[in-house]
Amino acid sequence: MESVSIHDKIFRLNIPAEKIRQVVSGLATKLNSDLAGKDILYLVVLNGAFIFASDLLRAIRVPGRISFVRLASYEKTNSTGKVRELIGIHEVLEDKTVVIIEDVVDSGNTLQELLQAVRRHKPAEIRIVSLLFKPDAYEHSHKIDYVGFRIPNDFVVGYGLDYDGLGRQLKDIYTLVES
Ligand code: IMP
Ligand code: MG
Repeated sequence: MESVSIHDKIFRLNIPAEKIRQVVSGLATKLNSDLAGKDILYLVVLNGAFIFASDLLRAIRVPGRISFVRLASYEKTNSTGKVRELIGIHEVLEDKTVVIIEDVVDSGNTLQELLQAVRRHKPAEIRIVSLLFKPDAYEHSHKIDYVGFRIPNDFVVGYGLDYDGLGRQLKDIYTLVES
């Protein structure tokens, strides 16, 4: 499919599934060597990261507990700037390497809130993995340790990412066509 329509908008194919697969595999290779021997807790940020995390984690051999947090900041295609915590942290993070798995870092506000919450649990270190990163939209300075794709400041759907609730199940990533 070269383009899809969701609600009132049209999205065109941007990153095909095969390309995503290659990049996820490359990230897993890097993580397998960087995380070896560490006491890990993988923290998956719902909802958007669920597909990325399931592919990535199945390719990571370093054992660790897997936990989920859920935050929400987006309304339709605009960041509201406000972050709500819907599912909190219910694991022991103290002295662990916490590996945050995100679908996309846009303004970085969500990540910033999450980092503050995670730090309160006194982990040994925090590493951030994000499939997508929008450097032009990023308003913070904390380094994103592992990035799948650096993309322009456009709105995308698919591979877990949604537009107003739909589009998450698309296997490719699509970009909003501005009308
Ligand atoms: P931030 O707080 O502005 O970095 O936004 C982070 C959250 O907004 C992500 O975890 C996504 O849920 C959502 N988001 C940001 N950009 C997009 C996009 O292009 N498509 C779909 N959701 C997005
Ligand atoms: Mg997200």
